[in-house]
Amino acid sequence: MIFVLGSINNDITLEVGRIPKKGETLSADGCFMGLGGKGANQAVAIAKLAGEGEKKPAVKLIGHVGKDAVGAELIRKLNDYGVDTEFVRQVNRATGTAIVTVTPKDNRIIVYGGANAGITKSDVDEALEHATEADTLLCQLETPLYIVAYALRKARSLGMTTILNPAPAKALPDDMYYNVDIIVPNETETLILTGINPQDSDSRRAAMIKFHMQGVPYVVLTLGDKGVSLSDGTHITDHIPARKVAVTDTTGAGDTFVGALALTYPHIGMYSFREACAFANIAASISVMRHGASDSIPTAEEVYAHYVHEVI
Ligand code: ATP
Ligand code: RIB
Repeated sequence: MIFVLGSINNDITLEVGRIPKKGETLSADGCFMGLGGKGANQAVAIAKLAGEGEKKPAVKLIGHVGKDAVGAELIRKLNDYGVDTEFVRQVNRATGTAIVTVTPKDNRIIVYGGANAGITKSDVDEALEHATEADTLLCQLETPLYIVAYALRKARSLGMTTILNPAPAKALPDDMYYNVDIIVPNETETLILTGINPQDSDSRRAAMIKFHMQGVPYVVLTLGDKGVSLSDGTHITDHIPARKVAVTDTTGAGDTFVGALALTYPHIGMYSFREACAFANIAASISVMRHGASDSIPTAEEVYAHYVHEVI
């Protein structure tokens, strides 16, 4: 079982040729709404990439949405994708909302946390009541930091595998690192957490060693269109290059990567750490070719088609 503690947002995406200047109003070329939020996206990635069959690990999302039509619709979408929403509660706060502006060059996101900010320790306790050492907890930082710290501590005490995607970046208490088995920051998050800008192989190595020294055994740095670097403390791979693809919208690329890694490394025994990162790198590269966050995540078959030709 994989438990994902995290945010659930209604993403409102505007596609524009460029960012408006101060005081300027621009017409958007496209507008669409979809299921977003780092927790929801990562849970959907796990569900979609797990495929079908008896051995499919269940993914349970722990989160809050508003007691409103938007919240109900997001829960419906999560269920449609195969995410178990037993521990998603509808509460008396507005559903989390993200305004995503996508230009041909990049994206910019403003998030209103809303219901996501109200997740409690008892939500975590209830969800993890029957968790065992065979299970995984995956967290990001769009829910309150003290709840994430509590959940990681609790998961560690239960012997679970713990994965942290420290996004969006914020300074972490030192003792939090000791409860994390795998950390997956992007370049900005790496800079904020380690003080090292991971722009060449020496700096990436130094940043990964710094995470190890803080107590994290496995480190994966996502490097956008440059791919990923990884270290298990003994072997450092710098780096697995990103695939060359036609980019439409990178929103959720990091979430696709993290979900794919959380699924393949601890749960599908046939993958080594490096192979799991290669699988996740392909999954994320497919997601950037499509619009949206959760909607852009590929299926296992789509990733395998490339994995078989490009990795094995
Ligand atoms: P986002 O916030 O856009 O979801 P992120 O900043 O968390 O992403 P990135 O490091 O930008 O994470 O990207 C995650 C992974 O997605 C990369 O390691 C890579 O595998 C894939 N990826 C991102 N951008 C591209 C791209 N332009 N081409 C191919 N793959 C990409
Ligand atoms: O990582 C992408 C996500 O960040 C978007 O879906 C948006 O909701 C924000 O949380």
